[in-house]
Amino acid sequence: MGAGMCVPKRLVTNEDMERIVDTTDEWIVERTGIHARRVISGDESNASLAASACLEALSKSGVNPREIDMIIVGTNSPDTLLPGVGPTIQGMIDAPDAGGMDIQAGCPGSLYAMAAAAGGIASGIWNRVLAVGSEAFTRMVDWEHRSTCILFGDGAGAVVMGEWRPGLPRLSNIDLKADGKKHDMIVIPAGMAAEPASPETVRDRRHFVKMNGADVFKFANRKIPPYLENFCASCGITPKEVDWWIFHQANIRILQGISQRMGIPSEKLIVNLDRYGNTSAASIMICLYEAMTDGRIKSGQRVVMTSFGAGMTYGAALIEC
Ligand code: COA
Repeated sequence: MGAGMCVPKRLVTNEDMERIVDTTDEWIVERTGIHARRVISGDESNASLAASACLEALSKSGVNPREIDMIIVGTNSPDTLLPGVGPTIQGMIDAPDAGGMDIQAGCPGSLYAMAAAAGGIASGIWNRVLAVGSEAFTRMVDWEHRSTCILFGDGAGAVVMGEWRPGLPRLSNIDLKADGKKHDMIVIPAGMAAEPASPETVRDRRHFVKMNGADVFKFANRKIPPYLENFCASCGITPKEVDWWIFHQANIRILQGISQRMGIPSEKLIVNLDRYGNTSAASIMICLYEAMTDGRIKSGQRVVMTSFGAGMTYGAALIEC
């Protein structure tokens, strides 16, 4: 498993946010832990970030794009609904034998992509798959709404997956869940079939993300700790036996709340939301990339990745490195 990542060039700090909405660096840092985020500009796009991350993952894995059978992109902010990001980047990275598709499953979209890849590989349908999390989410947020626009950033992360061989990291368990009764907690109400774009939807800003932040906060803090305890038990390990925890980078207070409830020391958390904000489906992939690349994650260690988001979806994966 080789990993890659890409974030946009443009850095938007909390001081920059102070000039956009009525907020302060102090409020954002205290309530979220975020100091800065990256925002696409110029000719950057969801697909350009995803393609760069894929090319790096391929190069790190020593795999030629021509050997890829499928590209699965977890994303909630495709450049266009048609085509998806997956088929678009298939052309950009020159992977002529690969299929391409998107999975829209909220922030755990990259976990869903990894699970689909693992299933396709285990069943023999595919040999090598690119599993990607990529977002241009700053295009979906209302830059006049201070409690949402300060949270999000853009970026992409990718891994090359294939049949496990000794010496390589192994995806040894993955679990996906959803709580669809809470599907209205994070929504983009308009711009699609339910409410096609109209002057009214644009006037009422209904094509931007609407989120009940406090309810999302409670959902994560209540649901995720017992879920992760059960996930570890299903893997035959205790949370103490996990070397590194990669939580979806939503808000430092959520990460602290979950880890404190589970007795996880803060040194075992991989955190980068201070630099990138919440990059939705890309967040855990970017964390994985950074911690693999800077040597924090070592051979023989156990990593649990977990995410939650719109749907409300959630899930976890155990990687034995
Ligand atoms: N700057 C300054 N003040 C702000 C602000 C900002 N950017 N955003 C909101 N406020 C204000 C509110 O207007 C409110 O003021 P009031 O008391 O006068 O009405 C006050 O701060 C408290 O707002 P509240 O919404 O209760 O803050 P909070 O502590 O719950 O933090 C979030 C808000 C959005 C940061 C927090 O709920 C959160 O992170 N939730 C999870 C969201 C998330 O992770 N979503 C993605 C999941 S994939």
